[in-house]
Amino acid sequence: MNKTIIVSNRLPLQVIIENDQIEVTPSVGGLATGLKSVHKESNGIWIGWSGITQEELTPELETKISKAVTKEQCVSVNLTQRDLDHYYYGFSNRTLWPLFHYFIEYTEYNPESWEVYKSVNQKFADTVLEQVNEGDNVWIQDYQLLLVPAMVKAKRPDISIGFFNHIPFPSYEIFRTFPKRKELLEGMLGADLIGFHTYDYERHFLSSVKRILSLDVSFNKITYDNRIIRVDSFPMGIDYEKFENAALDHNQMNEGDKSEIQKRLDQHLQNEDGIKMILSIDRMDYTKGIPNRIKAFEYFLRKYPQFQEKIRLIMLAVPSRSQVPQYQKLKQETDELVGRINGEYSTVSWTPIWYFYRALPFENLIDLYTSSDVALITPVRDGMNLVAKEYVATRTRKDGVLVLSEMAGASIEMNEALLINPFNFEEIADSIKQALEMPKAEQKQRMQALQNRVSRYSVKKWANEFMNSLDQVHKVYNVIE
Ligand code: G6P
Repeated sequence: MNKTIIVSNRLPLQVIIENDQIEVTPSVGGLATGLKSVHKESNGIWIGWSGITQEELTPELETKISKAVTKEQCVSVNLTQRDLDHYYYGFSNRTLWPLFHYFIEYTEYNPESWEVYKSVNQKFADTVLEQVNEGDNVWIQDYQLLLVPAMVKAKRPDISIGFFNHIPFPSYEIFRTFPKRKELLEGMLGADLIGFHTYDYERHFLSSVKRILSLDVSFNKITYDNRIIRVDSFPMGIDYEKFENAALDHNQMNEGDKSEIQKRLDQHLQNEDGIKMILSIDRMDYTKGIPNRIKAFEYFLRKYPQFQEKIRLIMLAVPSRSQVPQYQKLKQETDELVGRINGEYSTVSWTPIWYFYRALPFENLIDLYTSSDVALITPVRDGMNLVAKEYVATRTRKDGVLVLSEMAGASIEMNEALLINPFNFEEIADSIKQALEMPKAEQKQRMQALQNRVSRYSVKKWANEFMNSLDQVHKVYNVIE
């Protein structure tokens, strides 16, 4: 039976080593959910890194991990500490991540990291080549693995290969500045189908291909190396039902079953006369516009002082890539801003910002989503942003307002949100006011329209549409003689 091989930097598993014992738990991330039918239900395999470096492994542990991972239909690619430093922290997250998010001034180019990035991509490709059989499909995910499509295609031109980029693809004027621009594009062009979240990313990619590689591009098809490659947009969704059902259960919960966080939220919502909660949730990443958001919130408190003591910003920032200096600086800046604003505006009974720097379990995310009157999501650049969609899915009472940056891919599908430019504090402050004062009927109308759309384009639908397109591309274009 033909199978699909999914390839991503991280496996959809968490491996923990304790006292020479290992524990493997499947992670419940969006990608794993969306790809369940391609992976678990169709005998597929998932290739990726287990999260443990070679140096942490004894031969016994390695065998144990390999066995446990195989049970989950996964194959792990072993990475050394040096691989991780240069491929993950280095080229992926100090070079490609800032470049693709328009942070040219953060983009470092280190030739050693480039060499390691190539060799780690080759490790992933070799693992694919060991596992692939005639008639299988390969679906490679994201910017950590841009060179894998061409490495697999070089050895197995008969195999149908898909690639999906989960982050923005920058405009040609940004991409052209990068020394290895040609190599990156050629790596991606090993795929038969290349997917992006939005049409804008797709056309940026096509224009880079046309201008940097001088290839023949007609609409969304590229002729290269005697093949036709199709490029298309597939906006990724969420597991809508999971969030909706969790919110429905949550809303019927007995007092005794509530989490500590929910009890605290209830206390504040009930005790403080008419207080409203504004929520933001992100990974602690400079693309998420966290300092801008805090400054805009402060500007709002100054411009509309009648809201002081009446609203609160709950800001959850999940630790991420904290070994990269830019992330450390951002954490420091955020701590200082929150401290300064809370110091300046707090009263004996009110703190304007509640700030959590940690990962919270799913149940607590639902507590936050369902208790917040407004979600304030203001990235300065974001491939998609699934938090915006998750907030919408949990608003089962059809109230709540989403204030969303137009720089997030999700904004294309979420016109009924209050869309803002994250650099325009005036506009953010006015939109917060509009959100807080919006009549219930208007909230309902906007939320219903958003829910209809977000529930229709679920993550399962995203995965199926990509796979169907890949089948089509392979059947129709295959090799041109
Ligand atoms: C983004 C990327 C993913 C990545 C995730 C978390 O969403 O597109 O590929 O897995 O961030 O980042 P991390 O570096 O922790 O994997």
